[in-house]
Amino acid sequence: MFAQILGTGSYLPEKILTNDDISKFVDTSDEWIRQRVGIERRHCANENETTSFMATQAAIKALESSGLNAADIDTIIVATGTADYLMPSTASIVQKNLGIESYNTRCFDVSAACSGFVYALDIAKQYIETSASKNILVIGAEKMTRVLDWNDRSTCVLFGDGAGAVVLSTSEKKKILSSLLFTDGSCIDMLNVPNNLPSERGQAISIEPHLYMEGNKVFKFAVSRLASLAKQLIEEANISAEDIDWLVPHQANFRILNSTANKINMPMSKVITTLQDHGNTSAASIPLALDHAIKTNQIKKGETIISEAFGAGFVWGGFIAEI
Ligand code: ACO
Repeated sequence: MFAQILGTGSYLPEKILTNDDISKFVDTSDEWIRQRVGIERRHCANENETTSFMATQAAIKALESSGLNAADIDTIIVATGTADYLMPSTASIVQKNLGIESYNTRCFDVSAACSGFVYALDIAKQYIETSASKNILVIGAEKMTRVLDWNDRSTCVLFGDGAGAVVLSTSEKKKILSSLLFTDGSCIDMLNVPNNLPSERGQAISIEPHLYMEGNKVFKFAVSRLASLAKQLIEEANISAEDIDWLVPHQANFRILNSTANKINMPMSKVITTLQDHGNTSAASIPLALDHAIKTNQIKKGETIISEAFGAGFVWGGFIAEI
């Protein structure tokens, strides 16, 4: 048994924060953000748009596009670093919101920062391939604006809120052609959101967790790790780079997207780019970009995509899939 992406959906909060809006309260400019990162605006959730709410909205849309009902779902995996609660999981709340009454539903969250969606998809793929599941909701959902220090110009300009979801189902044909995950736990201090840390570690115990990032160092790591990943994914899938129609990358920085595309000789016209409108939505960015590209008729049925992500951990990974 193989796995396939049967439907996609997404949700973006109505409120939009432009670069000019941000430059009114921190020392930055539209020009700096566009040139160094590529972001023009980002969506910003209001207090009622919780991570579980956005995840549920994206899931409803993904179910609609898959033609399945909520009752057909046997597993819900939510990738998030900004869950409503430390416990219970966001996935349990989504199950309740969707009105799934069956106790035979596995619901849990995955914490792998910006790589959360590729980690969750890999788990879901294995469940389907081992016949443990038939229909899985794989959701990436983030309320990043809740964990930002709005006085820190080096991070607050980078992130946005939203959710994206796919329904992963059974297939007789192999459609997830490869999936690889990696971790380097030695770089935790370069990118993190502290929570409940002992004070001996030199970091104050954080009641309002704020994202900390040494952007320049993270940038260099991301570029070097993602460079080899694309080649490994292509090799694992047993195809050539020319067989890939689209790159659907995690949306962190335009220069990282550019460098990843260059490594596999992919023109930027074949790179799905939502960064300018969404900012970095962490675990939500790939499913948001994928849904956007399918709904706007860029990616068509039967085409092959490659996705890659890099995030806090450091964790990185990706997949190649036929849509
Ligand atoms: N506006 C104006 N100036 C700024 C801003 C800003 N918003 N932010 C930083 N600067 C300044 C700095 O203070 C510095 O000034 P100085 O030279 O006087 O000291 C200068 O700009 C250069 O700063 P750098 O940090 O070196 O800028 P860089 O070109 O590296 O861009 C960025 C920063 C955009 C963060 C980049 O490093 C990046 O994209 N990093 C990777 C992010 C990423 O991929 N993260 C992983 C996923 S996130 C996750 O897992 C949750």
